[in-house]
Amino acid sequence: MEKPRAVLFDAYGTLFDVYSVGLLAEQLYPGLGQRLAVLWRDKQIEYTRLVTTSDHGAHYRPFWDLTERALRHSIKALVPAAREHWAQHAEAASRLMNQYRHLSAFPENREVLQALKARGIATGILSNGDPEMLGIAVRSAGLEGLLDHVISVDTVRRYKTHPDAYALGEQATGLPRGQIVFVSSNAWDALAATWFGFQTLWVNRQGSAFEELDTQPSRIGHSLREALAFF
Ligand code: LAC
Repeated sequence: MEKPRAVLFDAYGTLFDVYSVGLLAEQLYPGLGQRLAVLWRDKQIEYTRLVTTSDHGAHYRPFWDLTERALRHSIKALVPAAREHWAQHAEAASRLMNQYRHLSAFPENREVLQALKARGIATGILSNGDPEMLGIAVRSAGLEGLLDHVISVDTVRRYKTHPDAYALGEQATGLPRGQIVFVSSNAWDALAATWFGFQTLWVNRQGSAFEELDTQPSRIGHSLREALAFF
């Protein structure tokens, strides 16, 4: 393994807690909050793959837009009455989207980013999120001064796991992929980033099983702190 010189983090699920919307979802849709949060996340990622792999990317839409559409689908899937009467659910959807804009950040983010900066390691985000939503999330979490790069796949209009999306990490840092550590709490993202040639950390926050596709991430940890073990 080469000595890494930069660490790039996935944003949603890794730095920002996407399931923190579950509480509001439960208030708005009692008994369905947890299922809504999970379906919303799964559908959002499914839509990124759908638009990236179909019709040569012609149906690309920014992540905020796909997130909103995924929410609309998820509400309609779990609350059949919403299919006919969407107007009655528009306000709930808009409150959930607003919450998504200001997701909670995981508590260890700051100290890990500070420790990396102290060691002279370049830091950044490499995310499906569009530049505006990433900017707001980074500012809400107070992480501005701790990130050298905030990279959005919107530049290439291809979502991860497309290699053009991961290649943005090399372009932004000016480093070859083998000298970059990519950190994600999404198993699929950690897997594909390993295939791409990054050194990888899968942050297994939920105690999940890894993907069964014959490739393992370079490291597995339970929090972002494990990123420091590369140095
Ligand atoms: C991201 C999503 C995939 O931030 O979590 O790229």
